[in-house]
Amino acid sequence: MEGGVSRLVRLVEELVSIPTYALLGSAGGRIVYLSTKEGVVSLWSLDPASGETARLTEAPVSGAAPTRPESPHVVFTRDVSRGRELHRILYVDAAGGEEKPVSDAPPMRVFALAFDGERVAFTGATAEEMAIYMARLGGGWEKLYSLDTMAFVTDVEGDYIVGYGNLRHDPRTNEIFVYRISTGEMEVYTPRDGSNNKAPRLSGGRVLFESNFEGRSRLYVYDPDSGVLERAGFSHGDYDAYDPVEHDAYGWHEGIVWAVAKKEGRSRLFLDGREVPTPRGTIHGVPAFLHGRIYVAVSNISEPPRIYEASPGSGEPRVVVDNRLPEWIAERLQRAWFARYRSFDGLWIPVYVVEGSSERPGPGVVYVHGGPWSEVRDMWSVMLASIAAAGFNVVAPNFRGSTGYGDEFRTMDIGDPGGRDLGDVVEARRWGIEQGILDPSRVAVMGYSYGGYMTLLAMGRHPNLWRCGVAGASVADWEEMYGMSDAIFKKFIEVLFAGRRELWRERSPSTYADKVSAPLCLIHPQNDTRTPLKPVLRYMEKLLDHGKVFEAHIVPDMGHVLTTMEEAVKILLPALIFLDKHLRAGAEPSTPPAP
Ligand code: 4NP
Repeated sequence: MEGGVSRLVRLVEELVSIPTYALLGSAGGRIVYLSTKEGVVSLWSLDPASGETARLTEAPVSGAAPTRPESPHVVFTRDVSRGRELHRILYVDAAGGEEKPVSDAPPMRVFALAFDGERVAFTGATAEEMAIYMARLGGGWEKLYSLDTMAFVTDVEGDYIVGYGNLRHDPRTNEIFVYRISTGEMEVYTPRDGSNNKAPRLSGGRVLFESNFEGRSRLYVYDPDSGVLERAGFSHGDYDAYDPVEHDAYGWHEGIVWAVAKKEGRSRLFLDGREVPTPRGTIHGVPAFLHGRIYVAVSNISEPPRIYEASPGSGEPRVVVDNRLPEWIAERLQRAWFARYRSFDGLWIPVYVVEGSSERPGPGVVYVHGGPWSEVRDMWSVMLASIAAAGFNVVAPNFRGSTGYGDEFRTMDIGDPGGRDLGDVVEARRWGIEQGILDPSRVAVMGYSYGGYMTLLAMGRHPNLWRCGVAGASVADWEEMYGMSDAIFKKFIEVLFAGRRELWRERSPSTYADKVSAPLCLIHPQNDTRTPLKPVLRYMEKLLDHGKVFEAHIVPDMGHVLTTMEEAVKILLPALIFLDKHLRAGAEPSTPPAP
């Protein structure tokens, strides 16, 4: 039998070498996608007729715009600040060749971009401000419009740039915007006050977007010239029968609306309302339409992404790019399921479970996702897979504030972060024990980013519930973090707290550092500009002053977002070694020494 650490090293090496795939569409007659296939997030393309693939970029890629089938170019962003998220925008031909800068715009945090074949529209943030910019491939760039709130460009075409955001400064609503390039006019549009409206896409001067103004989120078409709003109409009934809660993506293909619609953490593809059968799980990115065929990348919690060719009404999708797990890992990920539990106030909380332990109840982890406006879904996650494959039962709640269950649920954490959402995390532990999944004496709490924040808060406010905790890229102190944030993350914190700064102290883990009683593992990227390191260093000083048991791993030359597999190893491996030490059968509970 191999020793614990070498088994974990082998496990992490196997898991990070499993490539991810997310499609960006088609360009120049090829399917274009992001993949970690050769160890870094890169752009790739595939000619489905010959099966020939090409790697388009060498250095890591941060983000990319959906492609335009009529253009051979692929536009993407790259961090040029060793993880500080100052990006340049570049482009490359879908068949391969040299990378070229889109413009000589100074590096800034580019958090949304769109491409129309010639122009790139994007939202960028500096320390001082957020704005909408436009650049021409190989040409100039200009700042078009200064934003005083969180907003994201989602499309550009003809005379319009469109996007959405917190434009009326109500933290609980999102409005769409239509910016006219020729006149500089900015229209903020909402079909009804108080509604949430998202991710507009353009076609022929019309705007397709998601709105919940009639209740459940549905797709609508707005004509900015006439002001007329219509529900997106479909010829087939599958979409309505499915009755989605949200949408991951949508757009037009040859004048027909397609939608990747979502419910209970899974997504399905519809074309003109007719389902295009895809495997169970989550569709990554957008569908690519090429030569009359449809391509999608799909994964689930137990199976890594594959690329498939699918068609409406014709049954089994065909695997175009396969992806397999070693048998010994696949076995550990087999028992995955979805449920709901009632939280402390009766609210139903959706939860994913992966039973990776051979024991039931077994050593377990309450895994807290980041965001907080994100979710654990039936989708491949190297973080979840590695915890389960290391032999732990994972309970991963979609606490209030998570996406995927409607905007009413999503906005429940606004003005209350680290409050009732933390209550849901505590209840996830209780439920997991009741279900016979978690051994009450061996439960860890773990998360990255907002999940790292919740972990620290859980360890300080509910110290007796946890055998140990692992907090990656965590938030230790809201006031200190706010002071270090750039324009977009300042807005983010203002929206999250709904302006209630008086809560910052009470909701900061630093306030409870003296209460922590179980061993804590802190892992933090040195160059993180979303959840900066300094407040966490000060938190460590407090732990030290109070004689707490903790270990700290500061990963040099790395930012908040993982862009290489080596970075993933540096985050995952210390976490798994720590969990293994504290949760395995027979491990002695570690008592902190007296201060
Ligand atoms: P995430 O990171 O969980 O990866 O989205 C965060 C970054 C900033 C904040 C929260 C989470 N914030 O509140 O500023």
